Amino acid sequence: MTIDINLKREIDLSYQVTIDTLPELSFDTKVAVVTNPTVSALHLEYLLAKLTAKEVHVITVADGEEYKNWESIELILEGMFEARFNRNSLLIAFGGGVIGDMTGFTASIYQRGIDFVQIPTTLLSQVDASVGGKTGFNNKYGKNLVGAFHQPKAVYADAHFLSTLPKREFAAGVAEVVKMAVCFDADFFAWLESADLNDEQQLSEAVAKSVQTKAWVVAQDEKERGLRAALNYGHTFGHVIEKETKYTGFLHGEAVAIGMVMANDTAVALGWMSEEEATRVKALLERYDLPTSYKIKDVDTFYETFYLDKKSADSAITFIIPKSLGGVEITDAIDESLIKKVLGQYA
Ligand code: NAD
Ligand code: GLY
Repeated sequence: MTIDINLKREIDLSYQVTIDTLPELSFDTKVAVVTNPTVSALHLEYLLAKLTAKEVHVITVADGEEYKNWESIELILEGMFEARFNRNSLLIAFGGGVIGDMTGFTASIYQRGIDFVQIPTTLLSQVDASVGGKTGFNNKYGKNLVGAFHQPKAVYADAHFLSTLPKREFAAGVAEVVKMAVCFDADFFAWLESADLNDEQQLSEAVAKSVQTKAWVVAQDEKERGLRAALNYGHTFGHVIEKETKYTGFLHGEAVAIGMVMANDTAVALGWMSEEEATRVKALLERYDLPTSYKIKDVDTFYETFYLDKKSADSAITFIIPKSLGGVEITDAIDESLIKKVLGQYA
């Protein structure tokens, strides 16, 4: 005998990203703000002054990518159990991508899933990490290898928070903005070349354009079956650089910047991008003091490390290679010899 379990359904997971001064937020449920000591010291007061709820709790976890782990998730869960959260309770992720990813994941598993809201406080998290519902944490096998797709109910990106960002963290976010433009929008790229992202108004326009671009991608491919993988442009090379430098040499966005330059060199070698276009991307990254070069000690070892990237299938490495400016190809059909020739330019 077979019995059908009929689960066909349409779920509307749509939500809005508000790019503006944080509005008054009011919830008739218990709420926990998940944050870290850095963000809390700088901005918690600002948030709490605008937040009303049945009960407001604050759960603080240690700051840093090295704390994006199961122990921190446990701490968040403990805070929720202690406060007797139920399935209607809400989490607010208040911090950068690390806090956003962990809070989203915890929301996805607490009593089999509750709602959460993103209030991203870094440029990187405003333009990328807070949108699209990828959540998770790191373990000894690698970064973001455990996680879930769990969309937030809303995202509030307030420029107020960015004023306290260290310069390098700001630039790391700019790298992700450039990523969106190179992959999907030549006009946006040209605009970025003439813009100054240190200007508040122009920064806000860049955040909006980046979020629109990401929203367009996620709407087509929420679970990364295809197009969404293009958002990993620069990451295949960048992850190896992060790994080789033991996650301490470069911020993620900095490694991605170098990775984008390497991907562009590959595009030039393939005849997919002109030298002039590749130079323009490099110049834009360098204007924000992003690194664009890296000394490769051993090309073969660097190449082998690609296989540790979870985005690579068992036997083939997936590369995200731009096609001119505003286009991109997701491919696992690039010759090892060509990639090694490109890597050789950095050895
Ligand atoms: P982060 O969260 O570690 O923040 C960087 C640093 O800035 C931290 O020390 C943080 O405490 C501090 N900070 C945050 N807001 C601040 C503020 N307003 N003023 C001063 N300091 C502030 O790093 P990140 O770059 O925001 O995010 C990187 C993480 O995001 C990685 O773990 C990455 O895997 C993840 N990510 C996720 C997605 C996604 O789609 N879910 C996309 C991209 C990146
Ligand atoms: N930052 C990659 C993604 O959201 O898919």
